[in-house]
Amino acid sequence: MKASLSTSIGTLTLERPTILASGILGISLNIFERLYRAGAGAVVTKSLSKEPWDGYANPTIFSVKGGGWLNAVGLSNPGAPNFAKMITSNKDVPIIVSLVGQWRMTLILWSGSLKTARFQPMN
Ligand SMILES: Cc1cc2nc3c(=O)[nH]c(=O)nc-3n(C[C@H](O)[C@H](O)[C@H](O)COP(=O)(O)O)c2cc1C
Repeated sequence: MKASLSTSIGTLTLERPTILASGILGISLNIFERLYRAGAGAVVTKSLSKEPWDGYANPTIFSVKGGGWLNAVGLSNPGAPNFAKMITSNKDVPIIVSLVGQWRMTLILWSGSLKTARFQPMN
């Protein structure tokens, strides 16, 4: 008898419980298919915004004195609508989409204390 590793997260049922973390290997469907065939239960996309984001200018990776690396790419991505077009041929890979957005925050201070805080969604 073959053991089942099937697991559920809300309404999503996966054959296997391992999920690739967001952004680790980009957003190529070809790579997502290879990861799924290699045993991943699902993959999480790089975080996608409503409009394309350029991210930070290079260099985006620094070596740290004493060992290790620091990396800040700035969530560069082609935008969720373009990503949706890129995966139209997907047949069976469970793809979990990570979405990112921005909020504009308005704070009104009066005599040093907070009077009002307002949040508005941006892209
Ligand atoms: C190259 C690279 C790109 C990443 N891109 C994203 C991203 O787009 N969105 C996100 O939420 N996390 C992103 N992450 C963070 C990873 O999903 C993960 O949270 C992080 O590597 C920490 O993993 P750990 O909790 O297993 O240590 C990225 C990580 C790496 C190394």
